[in-house]
Amino acid sequence: MKTGIDLISFYTSRYFLPLQTLADKRGVDVGKFHVGLGQERMAVPPPDEDVVTMAASAAKPLLDKVDKSSVSLLLFATESGVDQSKAAGLFVHKLLGLPSRCRVVELKEACYSGTAAFRFAAALMEGRPEENALVICSDIARYDLGSPGEPTQGCGAVAAIVNAAPRLLTFDDASGLHAEDVMDFWRPNYRDEALVDGKYSAKMYLNIVALTWTHYVEQTGLDVDDFERICYHLPFTNMARKAQAQLFRAAGIKRPSDAQIDEKVAQTLGYNRLTGNCYTASLYEGFACLLDTCEADLSGKRIGFFSYGSGCMGEFFSGVVQDGYRAHLFADNHKALLDNRLELSYQAYEDIFNLKVPEDGWEYVFAQYRTGPFRFGGVSDHKRHYEEVE
Ligand code: CAA
Repeated sequence: MKTGIDLISFYTSRYFLPLQTLADKRGVDVGKFHVGLGQERMAVPPPDEDVVTMAASAAKPLLDKVDKSSVSLLLFATESGVDQSKAAGLFVHKLLGLPSRCRVVELKEACYSGTAAFRFAAALMEGRPEENALVICSDIARYDLGSPGEPTQGCGAVAAIVNAAPRLLTFDDASGLHAEDVMDFWRPNYRDEALVDGKYSAKMYLNIVALTWTHYVEQTGLDVDDFERICYHLPFTNMARKAQAQLFRAAGIKRPSDAQIDEKVAQTLGYNRLTGNCYTASLYEGFACLLDTCEADLSGKRIGFFSYGSGCMGEFFSGVVQDGYRAHLFADNHKALLDNRLELSYQAYEDIFNLKVPEDGWEYVFAQYRTGPFRFGGVSDHKRHYEEVE
C-alpha cells in the first residue's frame, strides 16, 4: 500500500493589506503587483499570531477527523521558527493535546523543508496502518519595508495527515533532486526580515526546475503530458507560470502558449494570490487550492510538485489523486477564512510590522486581535505563552 496525504487543511491570518494600498503608498503602478507578480492581497499576522498559532489552527480541523492517539509523528517545517533550540512543534503538540508517545521535530531549509517533512513522514508511515503523521508547514514571509520583496510578503500554515491509507493523494517513489550552496535568499539569526538577491533567486529557481525535472524523468520516463496539473512553490503566483514555461522547455516544448501554461497551473494559484508567500506552506497551499477549486474531477490523475528552498534545495516529485477525494476536503473552511478577513490601512500594517516581541525577559501580556482558535498570549521570563481562544 502506498503512503501519501490523507487530509489537508490551510490557515492564514484574519487580516490583510490590499496591494492597491501598498502600490498607492509606494508610488508604484498597481499593475506591477496585480499583473507582473500576480498578487492581489497580502496576509498580515497580528501581534498575537505566529507560526505556532497558525500551525495549531491549521491542524485543529484534522484532529476532529482522526483519532489523536494515533498521531505518532509531528514534523514542523518553517523558515520563521520562534526559538533557536526548541521545536515549535512542541508548543503545537501541547495546544492540540497530542499523545506523549509521539516524535516531534522541526525542519529547516528555507521554503523547501515542508517537502522534506512530507517525504520523511511518508517513509516513516510505511507499513504502519494504525498510525498517523501530522505534517505542518507554517511561515511568515517578511522583507524590509519598501524593498522589492515587500509586495510578496504573506503568512499561512498548511497541516496534513500523512498515512498508509491516504484519502487524497498517494506519493510516487521518484524524486528529482538538486542541492547547491548559493546565497540567493537568507536570514541571519539576528534578523527578522529576509535578505534576498531577488533576480538571482528567480533565476536559481528556474534553473532548478529544469535540473530536478531532468533527474525525475531519468527515473520515471514520464513526460509533461502525464501530469494533469503541476503545483509549484509560490513566492508569488506568476513564478508558477514562468516555472511551467521552463519545464515545458526542459521537456522539449520550446514555445508553450499561455493557454498551455495556464492549463497546468492556473487552478493552483487562487489562494496564494490572496495570502502572499507562505514559504514552506506555499506549495501545499497551491495543492489545497487545486483540490478545493478545480471543477474537473482529478480522481486517478497524476499531479506534479516542484519544491524550491533558497540556499538552495529543489525537488520535483509526484502523486496520484485518490477516488472520492472530494468528500475529505476542507474547502468550505478555506473559503470562509479567505472571505472573512479584515482589511488593514497602510498605517495599521506598518505599525504591526514594527512591533517586536520584547527581549528583556519581563512579563508581557499581548492585546487580543482576531486569530483562529489559538493565540500567542504573551511572554514572561523569556518563555512564550500560548492559549486557546474561548
Ligand atoms: N504592469 C504590469 N506588469 C508590470 C508593471 C506594470 N505596471 N510594472 C512591472 N511589471 C512586471 C515586470 O515586467 C515584471 O514582469 P516579468 O517578471 O515577467 O519580467 C514583474 O512585473 C516584476 O517587476 P520587476 O522584475 O521589475 O520587479 P522587482 O525587481 O521590483 O521585484 C522580485 C521582483 C525581484 C521577484 C521581488 O519581488 C523580490 O525580491 N521578491 C522576493 C524574492 C522572491 O520571491 N524570489 C523568487 C524565487 S526564490 C523563492 O522562490 C524562495 C522564496 O520563497 C523567497
